Amino acid sequence: MKKKVLAALLSVAMVATLLAGCGSKEAPAEAPAETEAPAETEAPADAEEPAEAEAPAEAAGDFADKKVGVCIYQFSDNFMTLFRTELESYLISLGFSKDNITIQDGQNDQGTQTNQIDAFINDKVDVLIINPVNSSSAETITDKVVGAGIPLVYINREPDASEEQRWADNNWDVTYVGCDARQSGTMQGEMIVDLGLETVDMNGDGKVQYIMIEGDPENVDAKYRTEFSVKALTDAGWEVEQLDDQVGNWDQVKAQELVANALGQHGDKIEVVFCNNDAMALGALQAIDTAGRKVGEDIFLVGVDALSEALENVINGTMTGTVFNDHISQSHSAADAAVNYLTGAGNEHYIGCDYVKVTTENAQEVLDSVK
Ligand code: GAL
Repeated sequence: MKKKVLAALLSVAMVATLLAGCGSKEAPAEAPAETEAPAETEAPADAEEPAEAEAPAEAAGDFADKKVGVCIYQFSDNFMTLFRTELESYLISLGFSKDNITIQDGQNDQGTQTNQIDAFINDKVDVLIINPVNSSSAETITDKVVGAGIPLVYINREPDASEEQRWADNNWDVTYVGCDARQSGTMQGEMIVDLGLETVDMNGDGKVQYIMIEGDPENVDAKYRTEFSVKALTDAGWEVEQLDDQVGNWDQVKAQELVANALGQHGDKIEVVFCNNDAMALGALQAIDTAGRKVGEDIFLVGVDALSEALENVINGTMTGTVFNDHISQSHSAADAAVNYLTGAGNEHYIGCDYVKVTTENAQEVLDSVK
């Protein structure tokens, strides 16, 4: 299990974010006005150990005979690999038996995942943790899982507001654990704004030319990161021009191709490359290198997740910045939520977590904390 050393890794400016983060809260209707400390988020009782603020009191061992079913949308996704690995080890640390934790690969196919959920129901698992392939399938998934009397924790891909409302209206044992993607998009844009218009607008035409590489468009993370990264620039009064907007499906290889094409087509005009996640930013960086461009000198590049390789790039200047998508806190909150259902303590229907901006200033600390 990874250490929770978030407090140690945060710069003073980021402590506000941590203090606000990872407690139960209602899903905000709007993007946080202040991304470093969203006003609607309540500080947990123990801000230094956010994931444990909700940890149940039961002694390790009490859950050894409880069966946990976990559905991941796709094992080959880098971020979800970090998430599921940490989820399993944390569940074991809480007293669950490895043999009773089953994690399935949905292979990015809702039909496959639905069959896996049916099998978990037949197997009478005690709790389900689901990262849906399609968030729009949540209603169907919820109905069958609740119908079987099994508590349900959604992770990473947030169902829509009307679906979450049903859980509250019916008082079902269903919750969502995740971060507000608007915050990560805003942070990406702010890291560019912090460089100053004179630095970013290299061709001096008074506006910032950018390309956007999006994740899976069905996903709110992709939608909001795309929208809010650019909004941070326009909110700062900057004029922007989108030269290209392509779907890379969270995938490094795909993003490399897309960015290579964009660089071929638009060349030096591209000043900023926004990628909805780090895997795609790593692909973008390969294309940038091949095109003979240099991040920080003649182009800027930001991602989200804080994958180790991306953090190394931020440290050595080959990525402008990333945003820490805290898989440790989120996986712990998901496991704690599962335990709270098993013990009857129950949960709020939305359990949030804050993102953290990562620049050269704190990238090494973040890397040390996730190692
Ligand atoms: C996002 C993450 C992406 C990808 C996606 C899957 O939160 O940033 O890298 O894992 O979830 O839904």
